[in-house]
Amino acid sequence: MLEVKAVNLKRVKVDTLVVPVCEDRDIHTDKLLTSLVGGAKAFAEFKGKKGEVITLFQPAETRIARAVFFGLGKAETLNGESFRAFSGNAVKFCINAGLSAMTLATPSATDLTINAETLFGSLMEGACLGNHIFDRYKKEKEKIPVKKVVLMATAAQKKAYSSLVNSVAAVCGASLKAREWVTTPSNDKRPEAFADMIRNAARATGLKTRIMDDQWLEKQQFGAMLAVGQGSSAKPRLVVMEYSPKAPKKTIVLVGKGVTFDSGGINLKPSGSIETMKMDMSGAAAVAGAMLAVAHLKPDVKVVGVMPIVENMPSGTAIRPGDIIRSYAGKTIEIGNTDAEGRLILIDAMAWAIKQYRPDTLIDLATLTGACVVALGEKIAGVFSKDQQLAEAIVAAGERTHERCWQLPLPEDYKELLKNDFADLNNVSSGRWGGAITAALFLSEFVGDTRWAHIDIAGPAWAKKASDYCGAGGTGFGVRLLCDVIGKI
Ligand code: BES
Ligand code: MN
Ligand code: ZN
Repeated sequence: MLEVKAVNLKRVKVDTLVVPVCEDRDIHTDKLLTSLVGGAKAFAEFKGKKGEVITLFQPAETRIARAVFFGLGKAETLNGESFRAFSGNAVKFCINAGLSAMTLATPSATDLTINAETLFGSLMEGACLGNHIFDRYKKEKEKIPVKKVVLMATAAQKKAYSSLVNSVAAVCGASLKAREWVTTPSNDKRPEAFADMIRNAARATGLKTRIMDDQWLEKQQFGAMLAVGQGSSAKPRLVVMEYSPKAPKKTIVLVGKGVTFDSGGINLKPSGSIETMKMDMSGAAAVAGAMLAVAHLKPDVKVVGVMPIVENMPSGTAIRPGDIIRSYAGKTIEIGNTDAEGRLILIDAMAWAIKQYRPDTLIDLATLTGACVVALGEKIAGVFSKDQQLAEAIVAAGERTHERCWQLPLPEDYKELLKNDFADLNNVSSGRWGGAITAALFLSEFVGDTRWAHIDIAGPAWAKKASDYCGAGGTGFGVRLLCDVIGKI
């Protein structure tokens, strides 16, 4: 769908040209583009301010059917995200207008705030991610994705950035896959079905993918994970994906929380909290998505994705508050609250993965706590790590990808809050505050001295409303973040 191409606007017939415009100065150097922008700005309703859009039909002395100008605001404010948002909105404009192809006038000014590679990469990402419609459950398919996006370029840029198309398409395609999984309703992605979806997506990627069933989990004594799954008629699964290059420099394990529906269990969630809980497998979706992208990107590190997948339901077989269970690592846990299930499935998966792979670094992603959403809002993930370098690498990757992360502390003395009279630990804090921190501290009890970071994505995994290059529903948060950080840790 994406192409980098030299386009002579004077000669070539163009159906839809989309042009980013700044309010304070010209970011194009092509004479024809500059005069087109001047023509657009001659109208009172368009000055290039952020959010403004104007269409000119058949501008004189061109073969352009329509030129659509998008205001980006002041040039000094532009960053990669501005261009993702622009191309995402441009693609959405075309989808809404029923246009199947678009030519994008790439800014050519040499003094932009970002370099050309970031510019091209961001434009490609916005276009790819914005060109997605989740209408699988609609009888009438009202909208059709755009078939072709051409990024205008010089011959040198075409040479330099044509291959970028492949890596961006792989990463963004994986991100879209994660979005779809998250948005898929829980009745169609019960643990076995979700595990199969991941395995099918991984077919022909070269990844080694295994699905472990409940009998295997019993044998291996995944006591905490099985306890969470025991209330559901759908049995848990553990999905393991391996990317193994020759002579890897390091091993990175990614673990993702895969609760296909979190009812809360016997501590049933109330109305207002339960309706979107099909998204509680977003960590697993992000890890599976990242693995699909890794198979294309081929880094020189071994990467293993581990996804514990369960459904948390209340029933006659469900775990009860007060029950004491034995985790894979051997520590016993009293169930203070059956709704604190994510940490229980994660600790078994993490302890197993550490034993199995001895990773240099382990990162887990999970929609773990409402408290993290209270702390950071719906668009920013919480990052926890005792390894400051690792935490900072994740935060930096979040800035580049705009999958934003903010570090929160792991204070040793708060571990007090997880003490229990009868078992080694309680699965919830005895106090009311700092729930994202106590959840992370609970996980920390099961990683030993492995270099580890936990990312709580409870806020950004789901979007109530559509934004620049993401529709309402699952956001695929974490796929681009993980792909960015893997080569840098
Ligand atoms: N899946 C939820 C966390 C969540 C909340 C994700 C909101 C996305 C949006 C998790 O399993 C949960 O229920 N956590 C409890 C923990 C509590 C019982 C200690 C919470 O946050 O209330
Ligand atoms: Mn829960
Ligand atoms: Zn949950």
